[in-house]
Amino acid sequence: MRPIVIRPCASLKGTVRLAGDKSISHRAAICAALARGTTRIANFLFCDDCAATLRALKAMGVRIRADRGRARVTVASCGRLRAPKTDLDMGESGTSARLLMGLLCAQAFASRLCAAPSLLKRPMGRVTEPLRLMGAELKGRRDASGREFLPVSVFPSGVTGITWKQKIASAQVKSAILFAGLAGRGPTRVIEPVPSRDHTERMLKLFGAKIRWAAKTVFLEPSRLVSPGDLTVPGDFSSAAFFIVAGLLAQEGKVLIRGVNLNPTRIGLLRVLRRMGARIRVMNKREGFEPIGDLEVRSSRLRATVVTRSELPALIDEVPILLVAAARASGTTVIKGAGELRVKETDRIESMRQNLTKLGVDIRVRSLNKREDILVSGVKTFPAAFFRSFGDHRTAMSLFVAGLSASGESRLDDAQCIDKSFPGFLDAMNHLLAR
Ligand code: S3P
Repeated sequence: MRPIVIRPCASLKGTVRLAGDKSISHRAAICAALARGTTRIANFLFCDDCAATLRALKAMGVRIRADRGRARVTVASCGRLRAPKTDLDMGESGTSARLLMGLLCAQAFASRLCAAPSLLKRPMGRVTEPLRLMGAELKGRRDASGREFLPVSVFPSGVTGITWKQKIASAQVKSAILFAGLAGRGPTRVIEPVPSRDHTERMLKLFGAKIRWAAKTVFLEPSRLVSPGDLTVPGDFSSAAFFIVAGLLAQEGKVLIRGVNLNPTRIGLLRVLRRMGARIRVMNKREGFEPIGDLEVRSSRLRATVVTRSELPALIDEVPILLVAAARASGTTVIKGAGELRVKETDRIESMRQNLTKLGVDIRVRSLNKREDILVSGVKTFPAAFFRSFGDHRTAMSLFVAGLSASGESRLDDAQCIDKSFPGFLDAMNHLLAR
């Protein structure tokens, strides 16, 4: 636990250069481990979650050199993984667990994925179900109602490509199927109700896989990966989101965020905030294996909006910070079909509801046909408050941003969890705050 004090600040000005994207860092390391040769990954995100992926790959014989100071990772692989000698510890990283489960299904050795207590509570059946259909042999822990969780043991078996129609858009599930399908027999197709983030598709293409995708369908043929040699991970839009909203809410806000990933499947928050009246300018946009650019954010008056279910996958991790923005917008914002937030690092609907209520914000959940909508009515000012992070990094960072525009000093019970995705968050924020 690391409690912190959040002092309000009227001015937020300056330039932020972000560390690499978390989702893309995981995928870069995994693809590099599967490709023969040496891959140098620049702007890799050194955070607790990505460390879990690197640790697991190392345990399977991949040579990985990490240079934290220069944010570089060099992965040298013979293109084959070795049986790990111990359980693979996923820590609190759901992305590591789900992506690696797919990859492990196609290996000729047995393995077992274990995790820290918070991840043991997160559902794994959504991944094991399609993987079993592909012929994978998996055995997870079951609760009384038959739902499956980590630890999961994976036994060697051949896998075969399938066509999988997802009920919920999930990039982690899609990626697990694609990583299994790489070494499977026959092609694999994944169809989603709404496109989820396509970083796995882009990374696999960069590594030479036979993959194509359009709108909601991905098609992959079994492929051997080839290292591109060098690649640079773009800045994390999900981390940029906290600076964007902090800049919008500050009385004097002018923030330039450089080198941000602008993948359309990730920047739903940008579209929604602009609709709410946010002054955000996209500059220097350039294309690579992922689009990237700079964002200029200025203080803005926000008004409420309705976020539809189909918009949600492109901003799923940004809902906590969007709730903070909505809490300061005029009118009532509605976020539709937000039930997935209940199975993130914590139940994010509940963690944000409890904290925003302390700020005098009227936040309600409406359940309709098993779908949950969140309704938030904005207020003009926030009082000081004592926030609880619930051990969730995105809840903690969102509340930090809320505290910056409160009328007095607020407190947060634990800032340690921020290291899960963004160890430099407090330093980067303090750099912009002119007190
Ligand atoms: C992620 C996908 C999303 C997201 C998570 C990272 C990924 O989860 O919430 O933080 O890297 O694939 P779902 O796929 O479960 O929606």
